[in-house]
Amino acid sequence: MKDIYILGIESSCDETSCAIVKNGCEEIATVISSQIDIHKNYGGVVPEIASRQHVKNVTMVIEECLTKANMKMEEVTAIAVTYGPGLIGSLLIGLEAAKTLAYLYKKPLIPVHHIAGHIYANNLVKPMRFPLLALVISGGHTELVYMEDHLKFEKLGGTLDDAVGECYDKVARVVGIPYPGGPAIDRMAEIGKHTYNLPIPLNDNSYNFSFSGLKSAVINLCHNEEQRGKEIIKEDLATSFQEVVVEIISKKVERAIKDKNIKYFITAGGVAANKGIRNELTRLCESAQIDYSFPAIKYCTDNAAMIAAAGYFYYLDNRISTIEINAKSSDILK
Ligand code: KG4
Ligand code: ZN
Repeated sequence: MKDIYILGIESSCDETSCAIVKNGCEEIATVISSQIDIHKNYGGVVPEIASRQHVKNVTMVIEECLTKANMKMEEVTAIAVTYGPGLIGSLLIGLEAAKTLAYLYKKPLIPVHHIAGHIYANNLVKPMRFPLLALVISGGHTELVYMEDHLKFEKLGGTLDDAVGECYDKVARVVGIPYPGGPAIDRMAEIGKHTYNLPIPLNDNSYNFSFSGLKSAVINLCHNEEQRGKEIIKEDLATSFQEVVVEIISKKVERAIKDKNIKYFITAGGVAANKGIRNELTRLCESAQIDYSFPAIKYCTDNAAMIAAAGYFYYLDNRISTIEINAKSSDILK
């Protein structure tokens, strides 16, 4: 069969990225331009600034990617792009760029769901096998997804309020760590010790999650300690907090693996970079004797390689769109 080269574009939040992936599994080139340093000054992503930055970056990122891949647009088979969910102004920039390229070079246009992208980041590690359970944990999402086969997504549960990454970032903010604080909390958790007792949120038999109560518990704890004239030991807070997150996530994953007779488990999204979560999920899969994978750290947070990898399977499934397609700030994974 002829090799299929998908050019992927991602701009759903604060990363402008372009990548070329061969046959859904082999990364040829990826370029990511991150805006973190700009948004850091505001304590989170400012949508208006994000879209303006995407406008500035998108052409450069695409050109740089083609140069890095040593390829011409003519050699690309199809163009995959994140159409949603995400920040509408940000999505529109990547989508317009993809539409323009598709129109000019007469290439099929493939709109990819952002979460499908995160999941397919794992196909860049090794071929995904089914029935599969995907844990998607990022700044905007916390979902357990069952897949019987490629592109057959069934959501088992998700967060009822905050996403887990959002919770990490808010806890970090309480102790004065700049956005996005998740990675710093992860590093601190390694050196701290269990000191503070925090509630285990939504400790029930559903596949749903809730993180806003945990966030409030951390805020209250910090205020109470301050009122008592005591200083919070940040590393110990990080350890105590991460232990609760790891416990609730692994408990629900473990049950889904049993209930659904899962043979393959994957984790995806920015928080999949978390060491504590990776260690516990690895232990769990090894004791359940099932195969598993985590994306490479650079493909955990938003990137276009994951969109191009997913785009390959969308292409095989003929999920091709006209250039009339619009961006969607929210949309279910289907
Ligand atoms: O997937 P992503 O780039 O954006 C969304 O699609 O939402 O994920 C970004 C999120 C941020 O909340 C960031 O703090 C979190 O992933 N994150 C981490 C770690 N690395 C990134 N959270 C905990 N531990 C980490 N090591
Ligand atoms: Zn994401």
